[in-house]
Amino acid sequence: MKKTKLKLVTKGLKKGIKKGKKDVYWPTEELKKNAWINKKSIYKKAEKDPLKFWESLAAEGIIWDKKWKKTYSEKYPYFQWFIEGKLNVSYNCIDRHLQDKKNKAAIIWEPDSPEEKNRVLTYHDLYYEVNKLANVLKNLGVKKGDVVGIYLPMIPEGQISMLACSRIGAVHNVVFSAFSAESLKYRLKETGAKILITADGYYRKGKVINLKAKADEAVKKTKVKKVIVINRAGIKIDWNKKRDFWWHELKEKADSYCQPQAMDSEDTLFILYTSGTTGKPKGIIHTTGGYLTQAHWTAKWDFNLHDDDILWSTSDIGWITGHTYCCYGPLSNGATILIYEGMLNYPQPDRWCKIIEKYGITVFYTSPTAIRMFAKNGDYVKKINFASLRILGSVGEPINKEAWEWFFQNVGKKRSPLIDTWWQTETGGTMINSLPGIGPFIPTLAGRSFPGIRLAILDDNGKVLPANKEGNLVQLSPFAPGMLRGIYKNHKKYLETYWNKFGKRIYFTSDGAWKDCQGNFRIIGRLDDIIKIAGHRISTAELEDAITKHHFVAECAVIPLPHEIKGNVPIALVVLKKVKPSLKLIEEIIKQAEKFIGPIARPDQVFFVEDLPKTRSGKIMRRILKNILTNQPVEDISTLANPESVENIKKILRK
Ligand code: WT7
Repeated sequence: MKKTKLKLVTKGLKKGIKKGKKDVYWPTEELKKNAWINKKSIYKKAEKDPLKFWESLAAEGIIWDKKWKKTYSEKYPYFQWFIEGKLNVSYNCIDRHLQDKKNKAAIIWEPDSPEEKNRVLTYHDLYYEVNKLANVLKNLGVKKGDVVGIYLPMIPEGQISMLACSRIGAVHNVVFSAFSAESLKYRLKETGAKILITADGYYRKGKVINLKAKADEAVKKTKVKKVIVINRAGIKIDWNKKRDFWWHELKEKADSYCQPQAMDSEDTLFILYTSGTTGKPKGIIHTTGGYLTQAHWTAKWDFNLHDDDILWSTSDIGWITGHTYCCYGPLSNGATILIYEGMLNYPQPDRWCKIIEKYGITVFYTSPTAIRMFAKNGDYVKKINFASLRILGSVGEPINKEAWEWFFQNVGKKRSPLIDTWWQTETGGTMINSLPGIGPFIPTLAGRSFPGIRLAILDDNGKVLPANKEGNLVQLSPFAPGMLRGIYKNHKKYLETYWNKFGKRIYFTSDGAWKDCQGNFRIIGRLDDIIKIAGHRISTAELEDAITKHHFVAECAVIPLPHEIKGNVPIALVVLKKVKPSLKLIEEIIKQAEKFIGPIARPDQVFFVEDLPKTRSGKIMRRILKNILTNQPVEDISTLANPESVENIKKILRK
């Protein structure tokens, strides 16, 4: 740790953020001085020649085994970065730091229970573990390009597994541990994974959860022949002698060095499933060179990562934020990350504060839902010492003004800029946010597009809209290096979802937004049938599919309703087959969502209705349902096939 740097930070902290016009905050001179990027001219420079801009970042930030021949190429609807360049991601995240950061903490793990001992892995520990696991995978027959399923709680073995895959050129597919066995099975089947890394269990709110049981269920009738099990909880689990292996036993026998495989810049690094607008999730493909470049530089600049920083991103590794900012971005910068197994408010609402204090967290990156939860009866924060914090971050859903102000004032103490980052599973890294040394920081406005990324707001006919006009948020060519390179085994869906609405060479984000005269974006939210529930991405179609799988359900519509903490919650309107509605059925329907997706998709309320409003062609009119549920006037219903359904539903809701 360099003393001088700490001094600078403290100075910056004391003075805090400057306030300009109403509600616009700017970095102080001290904050600017300490920032990697503090000159606005970077935007112009990058805009002038984005290829040159990214090329210089790739050369400076990433260690390449072989330099690329061509920076970028585009062949609708695909594009490539750093063509024919070769690199290894695990080398870039670990080996390169061994010379000067060998004994520095790479990953600090905080368990669910505040009483249990934490774990600290130095860069050398991480190196040792990753090399061992890479050899274990190899010994079990994993080859370059094979898909490895990862179904793990928040323990360092998550990062270790991802990095071990990248070391040997295997493609990882991480599945959120709270997803159901069905969800895992779907992903294992589609990717054809032959191997799965999981754990016996984990702790959540003091209770042990048997993860292996779900994994056992999921691997049935898939190609998975081997399961590596990490002993996290020490619980009794079922064991299949031919198929299951303890990680600690395999580790004993494996060699401690594994040569990193030089990968092509465009080789797949991972597949991560996310919700689309249909009933089935889609496997987003991310590749190596471009993704790592964007992960590295956005982590460094957005969070102004310096050597003495410790970053806590509260996301699970099962999401893209967990991939990019709980692993690849910060580790490629040689930073220290904290990962936490449990719930932010367990065993007391102030657990998250205790963690910030305990480790002296400097960068705290979380979601608006979490912030709203913190703020509710949030008096306890007054007793907390937040002096270590330098930067606050928010991601996942639009942040409302109250939550922004509360977080900025009570946690950031008006000293730490609040960086609201807009991006998507598809974009791999952040796309819109203010930079800490430049600003401005404006409640509810996410900021400008990251340098070298070209975004625009279009009307429905594809015409560019002037400032302050709301429209479709799109990305223009050249597409950012961290962008997806396709949907796994589904070219058609890739084409339709992103590249169809506005024609060739325009990526449609599916978000509505506007921007002010200075180019700061305000994100309104999804324009499609995707709901953000507590920042998680759920498709109404997927949830409807799960519910209609119940043998008594004839039909169902899922509608998002605004919620004070979670942003949105799903409401299910269900038409039953010839059975009587009952409380038991409601419970069963809720269970149905858990079984096929996971607890995050649980409907908040279930209503049994006789009929759903439909067009003559049979399409359910969800907009009408939403208006009914939110007490908005319902538009002309005379064109419906069953206009009487509207009155019936209103009656039921009134009851
Ligand atoms: C959708 C992507 C990528 C991080 C986690 C979410 C919404 C994301 C913001 C923000 C307003 C946001 C958008 C986007 N979103 N960040 N800062 N402000 N909305 O990834 O699950 O793929 O969801 O999340 O609607 O399209 P994801």
